[in-house]
Amino acid sequence: MAVKKPFQTDIENIRKRAREHIDKGAVTSGYKADRETVIKLLNEALATEIVCVLRYKYHYYMAPGIHSQSVKSEFLEHANEEQVHADRIAERITQLNGTPNFNPEGLLSRSHADYVPGDDLVDMIKEDLVAERIAVDSYREIVTYLGEDDPTTRRMMEEILAQEEEHAEDMATLLENLGKKGEPAKPAVA
Ligand SMILES: [Fe+2]
Ligand SMILES: [Fe+2]
Repeated sequence: MAVKKPFQTDIENIRKRAREHIDKGAVTSGYKADRETVIKLLNEALATEIVCVLRYKYHYYMAPGIHSQSVKSEFLEHANEEQVHADRIAERITQLNGTPNFNPEGLLSRSHADYVPGDDLVDMIKEDLVAERIAVDSYREIVTYLGEDDPTTRRMMEEILAQEEEHAEDMATLLENLGKKGEPAKPAVA
């Protein structure tokens, strides 16, 4: 027989605390994470998403060659999804009483991923794959850092992470279709 796990809470205390500090909105005294650090991490993720939107848009408009129609639509789809990620992250920052940083100044240094235009279609896809792989690793670290301290932010980042993994897979498939799977990416620009 399964052992019943008791749910213990002091609802009177929660009610009392909820009435205090209502200026803090969704951030209650039960919020366990380091809010400043979470907002900083989210602003870095926001910058990463904006850089990804810009890179995919550039690739959408500039994709050359006969293969490019289907690849272009993939670029556009990803650009739109990165925009949705940016909006979700910005929304969460405001819920945490932080300020989403949309300042173009310093955008690239806040972003985890680089903005590399790419010289030809294969190069573009490779750079997108590299950027997705950077997002995957850095978002996974954010998820681990958040742990049980901020389940709402963690869940959002987990959902975004899952989509970045799909994006990486999509780019890998495009490379495979073009017969370029297994070719190395160019070294990072210093
Ligand atoms: Fe994204
Ligand atoms: Fe992505």
